Amino acid sequence: MIRNLIAAVFAATLSLMVWTGGAAASEGADLPKQEWTFNGIFGQFDRAQLKRGFQVYKEVCATCHSVRQLFYRNLTEIGFTADQVKNIAAEAEVAAGPNEDGETHKDGELIKRPAKPFDRIVKPYANDLAARAANNGALPPDLSLIVKARKGGADYLHALLIGFKDAPEGVKLQEGMTYNAYFPGNQIAMSAPISEDGVEYTDGTKATVDQIARDITVFLAWAAEPELEERKRLGLKVLIFLIVFTGMLYAVKRRVWAKLH
Ligand code: HEC
Repeated sequence: MIRNLIAAVFAATLSLMVWTGGAAASEGADLPKQEWTFNGIFGQFDRAQLKRGFQVYKEVCATCHSVRQLFYRNLTEIGFTADQVKNIAAEAEVAAGPNEDGETHKDGELIKRPAKPFDRIVKPYANDLAARAANNGALPPDLSLIVKARKGGADYLHALLIGFKDAPEGVKLQEGMTYNAYFPGNQIAMSAPISEDGVEYTDGTKATVDQIARDITVFLAWAAEPELEERKRLGLKVLIFLIVFTGMLYAVKRRVWAKLH
């Protein structure tokens, strides 16, 4: 009897797992659904892929897009060593802040220092005005939370990045716009950022457009929800606890009622 009950609880849990996994993938009606390692109840990020994704961000997207929610030190969470993070940070410069004389500028120039692990990842433009000026008036959005901010999440981002096509017959593009099959309205002020072999992966992975799009998508999915693995682990513990607890309750119930029957 107990065995039946446990089996029933287990089956219910399993179907719940399948259901939640499916729900995550079915958002965004017309988007091709992708398999992501972080989907489903056992979902996890692939560390090697996260590092490749960061390489793509750094070498391609960082020219125009910031990721202001991330600090350099966060990169240790995706598998970079503390020393590697120090070196990555030191490649960028930040305002040094006032010196002993209270000056932030010298000869009209901002006083700078190399970035440190505790700094936010340095943004490409000083402000939105400068960002628009460099991009035909369009503002490249911050990418830290973009996977959460768009319907379809990771599926959308991946589709957007591989969705640059020639405009179909009869579609007139506005000045400076590019056709994209998945961008709402199909005209986007970003030209295709990814090309075949657009990056040279340090781990030797072949850099196809699809691979690069996948890797940067996974990196940005992590950026938007770095605690995803922790959340899923906790969820699993809670489920196991509930299964065991249900079994125990049932055993207790049998004992209590045994005398009364
Ligand atoms: C040369 C500058 C430039 C580069 C490089 C660039 N982008 Fe963009 N990006 C833009 C601009 C400008 C926009 C705003 C487009 C608009 O609003 O029409 C944009 C918009 C976006 C959006 C928002 C789409 C939406 O649904 O609103 C995403 C996501 C994005 N870029 C991702 C990336 C990724 C990922 C990379 C790196 C692989 C990248 N971009 C590289 C300039 C750039």
